[in-house]
Amino acid sequence: MEVLDSNRITAGPMMSRFESEVASLHDCRFGLMSNSGTSALQIALAALKETHDWADGDEVLVPAVTFVATSNVVLYNNLVPVFVDVEPDFYDIDPASIERRITPRTRAIMPVHVGGLPCDMDPILDIARRHGLQIVEDSAETMFARYKRRTVGSFGNVGCFSTYAAHIITTGVGGVSTTNDPELLVLMKSIMNHGRDSIYIRIDDDAGRTGDELFEVANRRFSFVRLGHSFRCTEMEAALGIAQLEERDEHWARRRRIAGRYRDALGSLEGRLQLPEVRPESDHAFMFYPLVLSDPADSRPALIQFLEERGIETRYLLPLINQPVYRRMFGNLDAEYPVAARLNEKAFYIGCHPEMTDGDADYVIECLQTYFADRT
Ligand SMILES: Cc1ncc(COP(=O)(O)O)c(C=O)c1O
Repeated sequence: MEVLDSNRITAGPMMSRFESEVASLHDCRFGLMSNSGTSALQIALAALKETHDWADGDEVLVPAVTFVATSNVVLYNNLVPVFVDVEPDFYDIDPASIERRITPRTRAIMPVHVGGLPCDMDPILDIARRHGLQIVEDSAETMFARYKRRTVGSFGNVGCFSTYAAHIITTGVGGVSTTNDPELLVLMKSIMNHGRDSIYIRIDDDAGRTGDELFEVANRRFSFVRLGHSFRCTEMEAALGIAQLEERDEHWARRRRIAGRYRDALGSLEGRLQLPEVRPESDHAFMFYPLVLSDPADSRPALIQFLEERGIETRYLLPLINQPVYRRMFGNLDAEYPVAARLNEKAFYIGCHPEMTDGDADYVIECLQTYFADRT
């Protein structure tokens, strides 16, 4: 209501506040709100490409298990995604598989903190340092979580969050990029605003200027200096974000409680269901609760159908390399990525949303237990 009453709909005080709160909660100096997590990732790569003079066709390492957007943004920037297999127990990019994918054209790594669990960042940072690679963290599914006392979004050159529906916090649609690099910030701002001259991005960027300085802004404010995008959002999404941040601790506690309930009850299904592990010295934000069928005899389609008929929706655990569009572009890569191939056949996730009641979680548990009890 404050936004509507203020009559200021384009990026303004709400957005600045939301950006700086998200940045400081993730140990960063700057935040930049855009209209989606995908946009945040796309402008991060575009800014790095321009800064470091990458050529079209240069390579970016992405995990073989992630939401398609991670890898799509590489392609949108005329770069080539090179896949890296993931950890069999945590489902994040496997540091032990990264180096064999590095070529003279590799420019960056995009670690994805899958489903709320931070990647094993120490070895990733070490590899990046040794090979001179940039890092863009895809933290669309993880906020606030720490790895060895550092918060996601602060490890790379840029961290990217999504605030789409059902993410850790939501603004309807939205994304935030975090960085400690003022030059990258300016570039990303320009790229998400049609490639505008960064002297004037928001409508009060001329505030307080007079004389020649004011003319300079007026003269350049309709100047477009690179090819950019229209990735802005409004004060309304920012206001929703501020309200969501106020509830973050409560929501995270609920997510942990539901995950704890699942773990306590489903632990007895060992040998049939692999439950998610929390990496040592890490938090888990539990955007969702991943499960993997461990017994080769168990069929994922049969279980999914069983749950669906009982009103329980699931999603497959972020299949990428077997997506029809990726198969068309890259062929069948299953043999090269055995962990991803196994997860693409056996993994799925169930809800862990803070609005779920204990009763909702117990119902999911009961259905899973019934399914496995009937098929011993
Ligand atoms: C890992 C990952 N990256 C990127 C995105 C894209 O975010 P958005 O839907 O806000 O564009 C998502 C989300 O849906 C995601 O899960």
